Amino acid sequence: MKIKVGVLMGGISPEREVSLMSSRQIIENLDPEKYEIIPIEINSPGFKEWVKRLIEASPDIVLSGLHGGIGENGAVQGLLECLEIPYAGSGVMGSAISMDKAMSKLILRAAHIPVADGVFVRRFENLSEYEERVLRLGFPLVVKPNKGGSSVGVSIVKNMEELRQAADGIRLSDDDILIEKYLDGQEVTCGVLETEHGLEVLAVLDIGAANDFYDYDAKYFNEMTSVAFSRLPHFLRMMIEQIAKKVFTVLECGGYGRVDMIVKEEQVYVLEMNTLPGLTAHSLIPKAAQGIGMDFGAFLDHLIDYALKNGHADLRTG
Ligand SMILES: Nc1ncnc2c1ncn2[C@@H]1O[C@H](COP(=O)(O)OP(=O)(O)O)[C@@H](O)[C@H]1O
Ligand SMILES: [Mg+2]
Repeated sequence: MKIKVGVLMGGISPEREVSLMSSRQIIENLDPEKYEIIPIEINSPGFKEWVKRLIEASPDIVLSGLHGGIGENGAVQGLLECLEIPYAGSGVMGSAISMDKAMSKLILRAAHIPVADGVFVRRFENLSEYEERVLRLGFPLVVKPNKGGSSVGVSIVKNMEELRQAADGIRLSDDDILIEKYLDGQEVTCGVLETEHGLEVLAVLDIGAANDFYDYDAKYFNEMTSVAFSRLPHFLRMMIEQIAKKVFTVLECGGYGRVDMIVKEEQVYVLEMNTLPGLTAHSLIPKAAQGIGMDFGAFLDHLIDYALKNGHADLRTG
């Protein structure tokens, strides 16, 4: 009997296109001998046909190719919990916390994990009230939507006027504003995989964006973006791996995920935890898995086996 794998795809977040690319990769790399693949597309707001399709299909397990919005913030995970459908990846709480960068940073700081200094401005608050704190951070600054992804809406600003414009753009997209000190260092990323023997890490990757930073274009399209197995000294790679596992644990993540970091002057700063990292042909996780000798098909096999054996994250812990 084949295992019925539901693949959630599309969605209505700004990362819809990326999701379609990730989901295509998932579907192409699942072994058709082992799995019956059931694509389930979320394609428009208010149109809940996909929920009916999910219930009727009653998959043995769900893999999510969704990114951002309800796919990544715990909402879809909550639905799957209610329907008692096992799924790979983080549960409700890990997803919700990790999606909220400001909230994650509070927890990371409390766990003594270095993060960029910053200022958090809620969408309805006045930026001018924060001016003094912003000036104390010093330009250039990175401005990002608190619950964004794929670098959508992220910008580097050099003065107060640029900051105001960037903040207004984020407000228009109905998000809160995270302002961070610009960390001038080596960007790295580290995948984390939950296994029977505890947490394992995938190969640490060094990212060299041809653009100003690792923006949307650099992530998915620009062939000049370099992603390579890390050439940082061994002790730093060890530190990165330890920190990645600690982040995954303290943010209550499950299954798999990817931690983005910047290394500056031998200090590792965490930018964010991704609970549904990109799985496109251009993405980091497939490459990082390859780095430990796991092709993408084997990586997906592992996610499915693990979730089927261990239940999904929230049933495991609660
Ligand atoms: N504090 C920072 N200093 C320098 N670069 C940053 C900083 N924060 C974000 N970036 C750049 O912006 C990119 C996207 O930011 P990130 O926090 O990972 O959000 P997203 O969820 O959009 O991926 C990063 O990959 C990095 O290139
Ligand atoms: Mg990121």
